[in-house]
Amino acid sequence: MNIRKITDRVFYVGVNDRTTHKFENLWPLPQGVSYNSYIVKGSDKIALIDTVEAASMDAMLNKIEKTIDNRPIDYLIVNHMEPDHSGGIPEILKLYPDLKIIGNRQTITMVKGYYNIGDSRFLEIKDNDVIDLGETTLQFILTPLIHWPETMMTFVKEEGVLFSGDGFGCFGALNGGVMDTEMETECYFPEIYRYYSNIVGKYGKPVQMALKKTSELDIKYICSTHGPVWHQYMDKVVDIYNRLSLYEGEEGVTIVYGSMYGHTEEIAELIASRLNERGVRNLKIHNASKSEMSFIISDAFRYKGLIVGSPTYNGKVFPPVEEFMSAMENREIKNKVVATFGSFTWASSANKSLVEMFTRMKLEPVASMDMKHSPSEEDIKAAVLLADNVADSLGY
Ligand code: FEO
Repeated sequence: MNIRKITDRVFYVGVNDRTTHKFENLWPLPQGVSYNSYIVKGSDKIALIDTVEAASMDAMLNKIEKTIDNRPIDYLIVNHMEPDHSGGIPEILKLYPDLKIIGNRQTITMVKGYYNIGDSRFLEIKDNDVIDLGETTLQFILTPLIHWPETMMTFVKEEGVLFSGDGFGCFGALNGGVMDTEMETECYFPEIYRYYSNIVGKYGKPVQMALKKTSELDIKYICSTHGPVWHQYMDKVVDIYNRLSLYEGEEGVTIVYGSMYGHTEEIAELIASRLNERGVRNLKIHNASKSEMSFIISDAFRYKGLIVGSPTYNGKVFPPVEEFMSAMENREIKNKVVATFGSFTWASSANKSLVEMFTRMKLEPVASMDMKHSPSEEDIKAAVLLADNVADSLGY
């Protein structure tokens, strides 16, 4: 097995997971996921940047052994405590009895709580603190709430390498290479949107604060805990994270609907068809009962327009649509052009509830329609008008 060198002093020792079905037991992993760890070799000391999930430790230790030339690991930097990165801590501590864990106050509280580790194993750092590994320094940059409160990043100034924790991460196991210059990266870009919106989406402001801090660094490589090491496409990835954290949608419309017997779906199709006539080319249409929530959330974050439709079900919004709306509210979605449509058989409720939900999110629908039973001529006209209002608001 070849050692994956990123720069003269930085090496990749992470692992791929092509077995787990759902990340956090929630989000599907059709292309797997990587848990990235790195070794930084100074002339005096060696640091390990994060560990991996406990079940993958053997593979990681194998790589470490081939990388560190029988030297001990002196420091473990915990940029993020979530167990997909901290699961290996107990084993590393046993293997390296003099190793110190470096983290901020919140990290240390969490590591102690999760793994029952005594005070003597920790070195607490504060924002911008630096430690010297010998001709190589690690600078710690506190970036809380991406997406846990202890998250931080670590910068190797001499190499221009930023270890960014989950920041700039994406789903997808690594296909042979590690760096974006070594492999076809097209498959990772949709997974950036999905990873950001599913995992980090609620924390737009903290991401903006982190971006402000990292913009002051001379970064050449972004080494996230998930996905490729970004070098050639670094600016593109930063731009995606910037836009998503500002909730800036791209050109396009996402339509999310529920339908028990096809009538609400007919309205969704009519709206989509009219939007297409108006020139909208990027249309993502999700039947909420079938599409994975993970992908619906991703498209809703990505595109500027969002239209949601639901039949009335037990006097409420159809459950999978309600779940989607709850995911939007939880992620404090902003800056969307939204519209709603509903249907009912004897008592109307879903459309009114959708409008209320969006209003609670401070997103006033630009159009809304309700339909009794099946689409009538008036309903068809209303669907066209709704699509026209959305198209007008989006500047088509
Ligand atoms: Fe990759 Fe938030 O853990």
